[in-house]
Amino acid sequence: MRVEQLNDEGWAKTYLLVTENSAEACLIDPVYDFTQKYVELVASRGLTLKYAIATHTHADHITGCFTLKEETNCEYVMWKDTASLGVSKYVDENSSLTFGEGSIKFHHAPGHTADSMILEVDNHIFTGDFLFTGKGGVGRDDLPSGRMEDHWNSLVNLSKFSGHVMVQTGHDPPGTKMQTLEWNREHNPILSMTSWEQYRDWQNDSVKQLGYVSKIKVALPANIFGEIPEVIPWLE
Ligand SMILES: [Fe+2]
Repeated sequence: MRVEQLNDEGWAKTYLLVTENSAEACLIDPVYDFTQKYVELVASRGLTLKYAIATHTHADHITGCFTLKEETNCEYVMWKDTASLGVSKYVDENSSLTFGEGSIKFHHAPGHTADSMILEVDNHIFTGDFLFTGKGGVGRDDLPSGRMEDHWNSLVNLSKFSGHVMVQTGHDPPGTKMQTLEWNREHNPILSMTSWEQYRDWQNDSVKQLGYVSKIKVALPANIFGEIPEVIPWLE
């Protein structure tokens, strides 16, 4: 299994997954702004995009999933209870999607949003905004459908994975080297917290530092309705 991180220049991470012996590929958390780049990349390698998967309903960018579904006939995959429209394949803990000789399992990890999930593929977990690298901690829980208590309770999900899995996150500063879960257990402050109060205080501080989500009023409705808005201010 080859895992390639595609958006070197931004904080939002998109992953292309390709197996060794097949032309089938999938994209995790594609960003609408780069859709044409993804389509050209997949075509230039002779790959067939089977799945475009959103780890959750994003508030900070428009997902590329529904555009890729239209342009390439791939499936748009999300957690079964998502409010987002345009999804063609809903998954839960019992789902296993295959592409080539690869398979993907899904683990519900609500908190950042109610529809957040962790994807497990080979020796990798794709954590979306449920878990970031090291001091990045976790995603904020104050956006629509976010619940701090759920996020704290969902962290127990990580105990089912071996320390050797690579944690592939949904956001981190450009150039961040992805690390193993074992490394994150030592270096991510959230994973050594022992009380809910510590977690709540960390979240409250984090939200204060992050402030307003600049794209939310355009990106969130676009993702919920599965429609590209007439005007996208940051692409004008
Ligand atoms: Fe998010």
